[in-house]
Amino acid sequence: MAMTREQAVEAIIELGRKTMGNDARDHFSRDEGRLDALTLDAAGLYFDFSKQPYGRDDLSALLTLAAACGLEQQIAAMLSGDVVNTTENRAAQHVALRGGGIDKAKIEQAAAERERAYDFAEKLRSGQIATASGKPFTHILHIGIGGSDLGPRLLYEAMRQNDDPLAVRFLSSVDPEAFASAIEGLDPATTMVFVVSKSFGTPETTENFKLALDWLKAELGEDAGRHLVAATANRSAAIATDVEEARIFDMWDWVGGRYSLWSAVSLSVIAAIGPKSFDLLLAGARDMDSHFSSAAIENNAPAMSALTIYWHQLTRGVRSWAVVPYAFHLRLFVAWLQQLFMESLGKGVSLSGESVAGPTGPAVWGGEGPDGQHAFFQLLHQGAAAVPVDIIAFANDPRGDRQPAILANAIAQAEALLAGRDGDTVRSQLETSGLADAEKEVLTPHMVMPGGRGSTFILADKLDARSLGALLAFYEHQTFALSVLMGINAFDQFGVELGKKLAARLEKELRGAPSTGHDTSTNALLERLSGPHSK
Ligand code: F6P
Repeated sequence: MAMTREQAVEAIIELGRKTMGNDARDHFSRDEGRLDALTLDAAGLYFDFSKQPYGRDDLSALLTLAAACGLEQQIAAMLSGDVVNTTENRAAQHVALRGGGIDKAKIEQAAAERERAYDFAEKLRSGQIATASGKPFTHILHIGIGGSDLGPRLLYEAMRQNDDPLAVRFLSSVDPEAFASAIEGLDPATTMVFVVSKSFGTPETTENFKLALDWLKAELGEDAGRHLVAATANRSAAIATDVEEARIFDMWDWVGGRYSLWSAVSLSVIAAIGPKSFDLLLAGARDMDSHFSSAAIENNAPAMSALTIYWHQLTRGVRSWAVVPYAFHLRLFVAWLQQLFMESLGKGVSLSGESVAGPTGPAVWGGEGPDGQHAFFQLLHQGAAAVPVDIIAFANDPRGDRQPAILANAIAQAEALLAGRDGDTVRSQLETSGLADAEKEVLTPHMVMPGGRGSTFILADKLDARSLGALLAFYEHQTFALSVLMGINAFDQFGVELGKKLAARLEKELRGAPSTGHDTSTNALLERLSGPHSK
């Protein structure tokens, strides 16, 4: 009889207990076929899971869990447009934005809006859509937050070129310094303001949009509207501002904000890099979509990555996971991934509304490799609790000869995490140090590195639009696969709403309205702050 999800989880935990002292070094010594079994190519990316601490038995227990959770069926359901966002009664069809999946109607709807965005972007690039005084635009000020900011911001940093006809500035925070810094050196007479908000009700975005509009109006007066464009699912709210209806691009309720970068939400980026490059990004993502939909789970990169993280959580009590891209252009990657992953998987209730028995989304953190090595890698190598890590690297970079050094560092970290350094090696290394024997013995335990620490190595030929598309889609699908294993909904985010509501009330109170109903600590803070804002 097939196992239930609970039985499959129990079997993984039980096996994990028995293999507690084992890691990839042991498995490599016993299992000749390990490298072949744990490496795969998908959508132009190479994935190496072989340095992870699990063995073949663990893997087969994980595959049993995938089957018990109906992972293959859930992947098919998500890709075909079924209602997988059950709490909001919606499909999650971000794949349709790039022509992936099989929901023809949504693919066509998305393609039509993409054509509009491409047309608008081309006209901006050529100067056919011109400023109020008939000049070509030089800048776009992209205003949005969360999913309406992080994805496009990452794309722009990763794909912009020095000869782009337009430059983009991003504005998300309500700190006035953010606005000041976003418009520094910009001329309102040659700047297009692009406001992105699925709801068109997010306070940070509406506040910043007001500031930007005043800034435009001060220079352009009534003509300010000619410098505005928007992307939203709330057309009427956008129309109620000064944005012309023909300059509003659609977002849909079947695409979550954190999955929306493939749409007109990235209009600013498309205008800068051009539709052709954006098309390559979509093609890379589509490659990953077809891999995700067709590869068997054991050869399916997003599914394998999800199973790997879940194994660490179930058997090793892991609470966080690090992601380290070795590319300066991907320095915003982790910020984008944090929203995708933690807004999707930061849940404690199952699809059927009960408390989830097992772990849910671990925290994800990390950053660009070369800097990270001098910041957080110490914890990865010697911290008391092991944290699994994804290392992302690129084989080639046409801009000079630094790539061997960058790659060497990426590979060295993965190798060091696995190999570690034992006491005898440390002692022999200290032989020529000139230290007294007693001092060497004191130092030795501090220099020992346990090793056996799991990493997944992800290698692409080069960082270009296509590989970036595949990489981003990989993490979207890995997140979904994890939600299936955990039994939670990856597509809602009710947790962010309470804080927003309370903030609206607290702002009024800080500005002088009477305050009631807070906890003691909050009352004390309000008491401390009473005065300065309540004029
Ligand atoms: O912070 C919560 C959130 O709703 C995100 O999910 C979303 O990406 C962001 O706010 C911005 O929302 P909107 O696009 O509606 O302004």
